[in-house]
Amino acid sequence: NQDQLKLLVGQAACEEVLRLPRGQILGIGTGSTANCFIDALAPYKDHFAGTVSSSNATTGRLLKHGFKVLDPNEVSTLPAYVDGADEIDGSGNMIKGGGGALTREKIIASMAQQFICICDSSKQVKSLGGFALPVEVIPLAKGAVQRELEKLGGTVSLRLAKATREDLDQTPSAPFVTDNGGWILDISGLKITNPLKLESEINQIAGVITVGLFAKEKADILLVSNESGVSRLTF
Ligand code: A5P
Repeated sequence: NQDQLKLLVGQAACEEVLRLPRGQILGIGTGSTANCFIDALAPYKDHFAGTVSSSNATTGRLLKHGFKVLDPNEVSTLPAYVDGADEIDGSGNMIKGGGGALTREKIIASMAQQFICICDSSKQVKSLGGFALPVEVIPLAKGAVQRELEKLGGTVSLRLAKATREDLDQTPSAPFVTDNGGWILDISGLKITNPLKLESEINQIAGVITVGLFAKEKADILLVSNESGVSRLTF
């Protein structure tokens, strides 16, 4: 099943990064596949001088395992960043941000020499857009950004926090808030023919913090698992 495929690719990513020379710093992503990678790497944490984390959730998991987590501002070279994706196309372009950590993910990815994407084969697509494209925005710009995004042709909706039972009684529609205090607009129904162009167009809308299209910061290596094992592709 899918959980086993995530475990499998997490282990493969562990072997991949252990080929890096000792004493380097590693960028670590967010999500259930990245969690499998973190758990697989924990016994070998001394191979690395430290890590840079893409979210509060990942930082918590790294610290629990005893990894050293560094401030990105104190890091100048990052040989690799390992993270999952919500969709990846045949050129290594990705949609990310299903978990809401897209901004820090893109920052750490931009610092890294290599983006190692890890996923199961259900994430591979011919063209991006089947998964709703997340856009993190400054909350007061939500309305203005939404109107601009609607011109792209998709349906735009504000991501809501997963409500607990008590919340349901009180605040049924509280926005999901990112680690940076941003809100997320999800655009569904987009046919993304030119990811790099769309990424730069959305980046130019005032009030946008980050778009979850990773075309400029696309994957360099893809480790992808399916029923018959893990394949390694390079772009
Ligand atoms: C987190 O914000 C996302 O970009 C994740 O990388 C993406 O959602 C993949 O998550 P899973 O490995 O849980 O599918």
